[in-house]
Amino acid sequence: MKRIYLDYAATTPVEPEVVEVMLPYFRQQFGNASSIHRFGLEAKKELDHARGILARALNAEPREIVFTGGGTEANNLALLGTVFRSDAPGHLITSSIEHPSVRRTCEYLQKKGWRVTFLRVDAFGMVHPEELEKAIQPDTRLISIMYVNNEVGTINPIKALAEIAKKHGIPFHTDAVQAFAKLKIDVREVPVSMLSLAAHKIYGPKGVGALYVRRGVPLQSVLIGGSQEFALRPGTENLPGIVGLAKAVEIYERRREQDWQHIQALADWLLERLREEIPEAVLNGHPEQRYPGVLNLSFPGLENMALVMGLDLEGIAVSNGSACSSGKVEPSHVLQAMRLPRSVQQSAIRISLGRYTTREEVEHLIAALKKLTQNKIKAGRS
Ligand SMILES: Cc1ncc(COP(=O)(O)O)c(C=O)c1O
Repeated sequence: MKRIYLDYAATTPVEPEVVEVMLPYFRQQFGNASSIHRFGLEAKKELDHARGILARALNAEPREIVFTGGGTEANNLALLGTVFRSDAPGHLITSSIEHPSVRRTCEYLQKKGWRVTFLRVDAFGMVHPEELEKAIQPDTRLISIMYVNNEVGTINPIKALAEIAKKHGIPFHTDAVQAFAKLKIDVREVPVSMLSLAAHKIYGPKGVGALYVRRGVPLQSVLIGGSQEFALRPGTENLPGIVGLAKAVEIYERRREQDWQHIQALADWLLERLREEIPEAVLNGHPEQRYPGVLNLSFPGLENMALVMGLDLEGIAVSNGSACSSGKVEPSHVLQAMRLPRSVQQSAIRISLGRYTTREEVEHLIAALKKLTQNKIKAGRS
């Protein structure tokens, strides 16, 4: 059976060109970038080169790029690294649709005495700037709102939100793990203080990412160790991973438009075919302000785990929400925050398209969904 991967928001295959550039850094150029001999100097040169590529992509300065061990780590560094600089607990603002690496960090901080406002979203999963303005308190120390939501693909108005934070002099962090590279982000235009990204969502390797930290933004390391990454992320840098991340970014810079158009055309076609074949299917998330590669679809009357497993038996990989919640039959906090009807929440699956998705694969998906919906999988949720 042909296997079809439609879970690009969970992770992506590593682009062959990326694997090629990484290989020498495992065997020949394996030096530690902190060593002062030739091996170390060569490693340092490559590290600086990669930092320059990321900085250019964001229109930032190289000094503002801190390499991390992925998106979760970048988010933890932004939140905890800000909080650790405070003498006493204060107030934080985030949204009710964040990835667990932000949401659970905020919940942890609540237990430590911090007050956290989880901003409401509308029925499309969007945070509204007026809500942020209302939530600001005299001791608000940080605002963290995600760029593109990983479950429904809605794009938040980050520029407007960051401008509000700037007006009040409050640092603003955005989790751009699903947005970075796919959307052009210019930090001279969008006044974010910090921005998280991860390589494995953009055809790069897993376990490597970065936090953009605007010059002058107060932050401290959350790990204790050496002074790598401007003393913000101790530990020997993952040079093969960082070189791979930089290559993945370079490739995106070349083909951003092409990828977007390819994915948009496939998404439009998928939705059109669904309307023809399974008209009761519902698209969750914003109808226009969305990254087209993430399609959260509900099939009211059916059960999402049964759909995901049924599709898997047909060789098609999709998700029942975010990757982190798959395997657990819990309602998605994102769909709950959007206040969607229960039958919509319980039957929602996430189909995410990517660079290598074809029309033929989408056609297989439609046929499989039609078969499953006609077979009427019984809602088995308790
Ligand atoms: C929006 C968002 N933030 C953070 C993460 C975590 O990134 P990583 O898997 O690199 O730790 C993910 C990954 O699913 C994500 O989608």
